[in-house]
Amino acid sequence: MNVNYLRISVTDRCNLRCTYCSPPGACDFIPHEEILTFEEIERLVGLLAGCGIRKVRLTGGEPLVRKGIVELVRRLAPIEGIEEVSLTTNGVLLAPMAAELKAAGAGRVNISIDSMKLQTYQQMTGFDALPEAISGIHKAIEVGLTPVRINSVIVKGLNDSVEEIEALAGMSMDLAVAVRFIEYCPTDTHTSPASSYVPNSEIRCIIESRLGTLVSVPSGDMDGPAVYFKAPSSAGTIGFISGRSLLFCPTCNRLRLTSDGRVKPCLYAAPDYDLKTLLRSGAGDEQVRDLLRSILRGKGQFTRVNSAVQEFRRFSMQSIGG
Ligand code: GTP
Ligand code: 5AD
Ligand code: SF4
Repeated sequence: MNVNYLRISVTDRCNLRCTYCSPPGACDFIPHEEILTFEEIERLVGLLAGCGIRKVRLTGGEPLVRKGIVELVRRLAPIEGIEEVSLTTNGVLLAPMAAELKAAGAGRVNISIDSMKLQTYQQMTGFDALPEAISGIHKAIEVGLTPVRINSVIVKGLNDSVEEIEALAGMSMDLAVAVRFIEYCPTDTHTSPASSYVPNSEIRCIIESRLGTLVSVPSGDMDGPAVYFKAPSSAGTIGFISGRSLLFCPTCNRLRLTSDGRVKPCLYAAPDYDLKTLLRSGAGDEQVRDLLRSILRGKGQFTRVNSAVQEFRRFSMQSIGG
């Protein structure tokens, strides 16, 4: 598989506390000096662009809480070989920043919204911020950070009712957005238990019973693991990211860079590679590029299938960025 997609977690901090990611009291933040600087990120992206990376996605934590994020986009977008710099955000801070991000060269945004009901949203994220996130979606469309994709993680007993699913999927009827249902992945002991998982096949049945038969639409070669469909007469699409019920390792085109400078060939499997120490030891471009090339060559051997079962629980979504 051609590895062309780099996900960069720019901070492990977040302005929400989603139950499945970072519930209250769950996290020790990484100290500032351990977080990669913009110069370090820019250097790594430049070197990785020379090794085949064409798409960069900034995640978190919440990328918009990283001070100077617009400036980071402005530095990364013009790097030779990089065709798209996009962001995955909870959308709460997006509306006032959307135009600036677009002007800095951001391509598009994925926005996480797990419920269209004020009370459920509050219960799942810890904050009463649904109106801000929704206005983030509208602003993103207005300034052209498109196509906007909405990410909804479905958790049993919280947002899996027919009404909740219909309201989320229904956004794609009137708006030209892709609403994507993400199977909840167990991460560490602080997040929801593994039994909270709802297979996407169930979600699809609910959607088809309400919106009609879904017809498949193709995804692009730089896209992540979502598969897309269209409901009859809809403006947008519906996607499914089935990280539990399907195994998409064989088509994985992604490398991850954590906020503290580790490169991970796989979300689940060890090992990860400490690039920060290498960069800060004064290594030259050739030496760093050699390590990146060897990580890319070896990527195929690290997958969910051959990682130990306990690895499933021993990582934090918030520091890796999903
Ligand atoms: P685009 O295709 O560019 O829109 O991006 P994306 O879907 O790759 O990015 P996004 O940040 O919106 O990720 C959506 C969800 O997909 C997150 O919950 C990720 O954790 C999940 N995801 C992405 N890659 C993998 C993977 O390799 N394994 C698993 N299990 N989940 C993944
Ligand atoms: N399982 C599945 N998806 C998750 N995300 C965060 N934590 C989890 C989890 N435990 C998703 C968020 C966001 C994306 C970056 O990762 O909803 O859309
Ligand atoms: Fe923050 Fe996203 Fe994690 Fe929610 S899922 S706590 S918005 S990083």
